[in-house]
Amino acid sequence: MVRSLLRLAGTLAMLASVFLLLPLSATRIPVALAGAVEPTNDTSDKPPLLAHIYVPESVAAYSQPLQGLSDIEIREFATGKAEFASRWVAPFLSGGQWGLGPQSNAGSCIECHPGNGRGRAPDGPGETPHSLILQLAQRHLDSSGRALPHPAYGGQLNGRGILGKLIEEGQFRMEYRTRTVRLADGEVVELRAPGVLITALWFGPLGDKTILSPRIAQPVFGLGLLDAVSDSTLRAIAERQRRAGFNGRINFVRDARTGASIAGRFGHKATEPHLEQQIAAAFKNEMGVNSDLYPGEDCWPIQEECYRIETILGAEVQDMQRAAVLDYLRMLAPPARRATEDPQVRRGETLFEQARCAGCHIPSIKIQVDIGQHRKRDTVIEPYTDLLLHDMGDGLADGFRTFSAGERDWRTAPLWGLGLRKAVNGNENLMHDGRARSVTEAILWHGGEAGASRQAFINMTLEERQALLRFLDSL
Ligand code: HEC
Ligand code: HEC
Repeated sequence: MVRSLLRLAGTLAMLASVFLLLPLSATRIPVALAGAVEPTNDTSDKPPLLAHIYVPESVAAYSQPLQGLSDIEIREFATGKAEFASRWVAPFLSGGQWGLGPQSNAGSCIECHPGNGRGRAPDGPGETPHSLILQLAQRHLDSSGRALPHPAYGGQLNGRGILGKLIEEGQFRMEYRTRTVRLADGEVVELRAPGVLITALWFGPLGDKTILSPRIAQPVFGLGLLDAVSDSTLRAIAERQRRAGFNGRINFVRDARTGASIAGRFGHKATEPHLEQQIAAAFKNEMGVNSDLYPGEDCWPIQEECYRIETILGAEVQDMQRAAVLDYLRMLAPPARRATEDPQVRRGETLFEQARCAGCHIPSIKIQVDIGQHRKRDTVIEPYTDLLLHDMGDGLADGFRTFSAGERDWRTAPLWGLGLRKAVNGNENLMHDGRARSVTEAILWHGGEAGASRQAFINMTLEERQALLRFLDSL
C-alpha cells in the first residue's frame, strides 16, 4: 500500500515538473525591477498612485485583489488563495495534502496569517502561542552568513510532531514584565517587556548560549509591490537617509537558487530577498513542507526517530503550487487610506513628518510593476517603510544576528493598512513579537536610531498625540 502510494506520489511529482515546462511559465508575469526614490514631498512629475483598494472596515480588508487584473490573473489569484488556505497533513494521513512535518508549527499558511494579517501574541503564560513562533540561533553565523541553527532543535522550536509517531520538539509560553512611561503632559502608559518561558524540551537543554527570538506572523498583503522595489531604490533611500542622520542598511542575504548576495526584503530582519524564496522558506520552516528550492526533511542528529518517518518522494510542495501562492501574494492589494481630507488626519500627517517618523516609514516609493493594467508603467506605492534595517536600541534587541542584521536591528515595519488591523485580526498586537498592545505602546518601544522620534512623541500635547494616532489610523 505504502509503496504504491509512494509510486503515485513520485509519478505526480514527475507530471508536475513536466507541466511546469509548459504554459505555466508563459502565463507567469515577471516583476520588472526599476525605479528611483520619490522625494517625500515632491508632487511635480509624479506618476500615478497605484490604485489601492477601498474596503470598508471588515475582516476582508487585507484580502482584496489589486485593481485592473486580467481574467487570467483573477483566476490565478483564486487558485493561489486556495493554496494559501490549503491544509497539509503528514504522509499518509487523510484530510489534507501530504508533506507536513516531521515537525511543524501549523498546518496551513492561513493558520498563522489569518485574514492575511498579523498573528496574535499570547496575553500571558496561560495562553498557548499559535501564530507566534520561537526562532533559535547560536551566536555565530554559518559560512553563508546566516544565523547558525541550534544543533538539536534547528532554526525554530517546533510545537507539533506526528501523532503516535514522533513527539514535538518542545513548548514555550510568553510572560511579561510591565513598566510605565510618563509622557510630558502627565499621561502614564504601561509597556510589557516579553520573556520566553520554555515549558517542555524533548531533546535535551537548549544551553544558555542559545538565542531565543519570538516572532509574530506578519501581514502578507501588498508584498508583490514591495518585491518590485529595486535594489537601486533601496540604495538611494539608504544614501538619502545617511544625509538626514539615519543609518538604514540593506541586509545582504543569500539567494538560495544562485548563491548570490542580494538585498533582503522580507521577514522581521529582512532575511529573505524576494517573495519566491520567502514562500519556499515559509513552507519549509513553519510547516516542514519541502520543495525543489529547499529539499529534504529537517531532522537533527539527536532526533533519531525523525529519520524513520515515512515521507513522499520528491518535493512535497510542487513548483506549480508555490507559483500559485506567489501569484496570490503578488496580487493581494494594500487597502486604500481613509479620511485623508479630515483636518485632524492632515495635522497628524504633518506631525508624523515633524517627528521624523517618515525618515524610516517612507510614505511613497516609485516602482515599476508588471501586474494587470499597471504593466510596465511607473507607479507610486505608499507602504510607509524603507525595507531597511535600523538599530532600534536595547529595548527591542533580541541578540539574534543573521547576515548583515545585528542584535538590535529590525526592518522598518510597513504601516499601510495599520488602521484596519483590529477589524481583520481582532487584536492590536504590534512590533516583531507582538509586545505592543496599541500604536502608542509601539512608538514608545522605539529606541536607537528612532530614539529622537520617540522623544518627540513623548513631548507632544494630548491634542497632538491624538492627531498623530488619528493619521496612523487612516493608513
Ligand atoms: C507557524 C506560523 C506561520 C505559518 C504556518 C506561516 N507563516 Fe508566514 N510568517 C510567520 C512569521 C513568524 C513570520 C516572520 C518571520 C521572520 O521574522 O523571519 C512570517 C513571515 C511571512 C512573510 C513575510 C512578510 C513580510 O512582510 O516580510 C510571508 C510572505 C509569509 N510569512 C508567507 C507565508 C506563507 C506563504 C505561508 C504558507 C506556506 C506561511 N507564511 C506560513 C509565521 C507563519
Ligand atoms: C529609525 C527608523 C524609524 C523611525 C524614525 C520610526 N520608526 Fe517606527 N518602526 C521602525 C522599525 C524598524 C519598526 C519595527 C520594529 C519591530 O518590529 O520590533 C517600526 C515599527 C513601528 C510600528 C509598528 C508596526 C507593526 O506592524 O508592528 C509603528 C506603529 C511605528 N513604527 C510607528 C512609528 C511612528 C509613529 C514614528 C514616529 C514617532 C516612528 N515609527 C519612527 C523604524 C522606525
